[in-house]
Amino acid sequence: MTNWQELERKYFMHTVERIPVTLVRGEGARVWDDNGREYLDFVAGWAVNSLGHCHRVVAEALAEQARTLIQTSNQYYTIPQLRLAELLVNNCCLDKVFLANSGAEANEGAVKLARRYGQCHLDGAYEVISALGSFHGRTLGMVAATGQAKHQQPYSPLPAGFINVAYNDIEAIKAATTDKTCAVMLEPVQGEGGVNLPDDNYLKMVRDWCDQKGRLLILDEIQTGIGRMGTLFAYEQYGIEPDVMTLAKGLGSGVPIGAILAKDGAAVFVPGEHGSTFGGNPLACAAAYATLKFIIDNDIAGKVREVGQYLIGGLEGLKQKYQFITEVRGRGLLVAMEFNSEMAASVLTACLDRGLLVNRLKPNALRLMPPLIIGNGEVDEALGILDKALSSIV
Ligand SMILES: Cc1ncc(COP(=O)(O)O)c(C=O)c1O
Repeated sequence: MTNWQELERKYFMHTVERIPVTLVRGEGARVWDDNGREYLDFVAGWAVNSLGHCHRVVAEALAEQARTLIQTSNQYYTIPQLRLAELLVNNCCLDKVFLANSGAEANEGAVKLARRYGQCHLDGAYEVISALGSFHGRTLGMVAATGQAKHQQPYSPLPAGFINVAYNDIEAIKAATTDKTCAVMLEPVQGEGGVNLPDDNYLKMVRDWCDQKGRLLILDEIQTGIGRMGTLFAYEQYGIEPDVMTLAKGLGSGVPIGAILAKDGAAVFVPGEHGSTFGGNPLACAAAYATLKFIIDNDIAGKVREVGQYLIGGLEGLKQKYQFITEVRGRGLLVAMEFNSEMAASVLTACLDRGLLVNRLKPNALRLMPPLIIGNGEVDEALGILDKALSSIV
């Protein structure tokens, strides 16, 4: 039998500490490894497989589109991208769409859009204020926007035009705003940075400040969007509307796609100013349309609210039982569990041994972000495994 993990060591750039499991198949909220072992997947491709693995509507849309038209240049009209754009716009507060291939690429495009807005309306303002502890992607520009030293230091000097300020601190944004500021860019809830929820009025205060100063508010909903927080988009829970929003992860239920959405007034690109060879290709768009339509038609976001509360309630129960759990936080199906010591890797391994995949968010915290289609039964199963894993550690 081929030793796949040995092949990785030999041929693959070592950019990630992999978990020693080779996954070969997935269905719903479950995956199987090359030894036939089954796992309940509470990682979901890092909050990507919104409808679970290989959902029927996604697989059928892909198969049908693969037989029909996979890729053309964006100089031609293609129907799947226009149907997707219409569905997106009809279900959010934004007016125009640009389609990309990933989250980082969508965010890069959003920053380019904000700089063009600055040139058109703000006397050449180009700086973007983003938050410490944020995560906006791995391109050089997005590393500069990402307010985490560990992502920035290996690549200095970073592109100019990004200011990182404290999250959940409106005064920090006010103090950093100058004539050069074209936009404030934030995750409504910081995902990779720790599942950090802001105070309820923070985003409203940022929105008011941007309005007062005539600056754009870009919301990076790459992790929080497409139902994960229990509403189709997280901004709905904070009573605000962004000028620009980016999406990726859950949009294609596993098929790579990213999107920039903007209000008409902010959609200032003219032909030739932005583009992509693969962005918006019919194959990815067919998968994203099928995903989004299923999520909307079946009120998956509403179900996420309920099952998310059930999950958080169960985790709170474990917190009562194990003193070393210091906090359970999150909303919908984006949840973190924090410990009083750096034990996340051991808990992850103990879960893995018992057939549950979880994500190590930080040395002292785990993140749970299962497919949005799970039910209370799967939550009970995960809680049972977590309980056994936690009791095996102490
Ligand atoms: C909020 C947020 N923005 C951007 C990204 C980058 O997306 P991608 O990995 O698709 O480039 C991520 C990925 O984790 C993310 O969570």
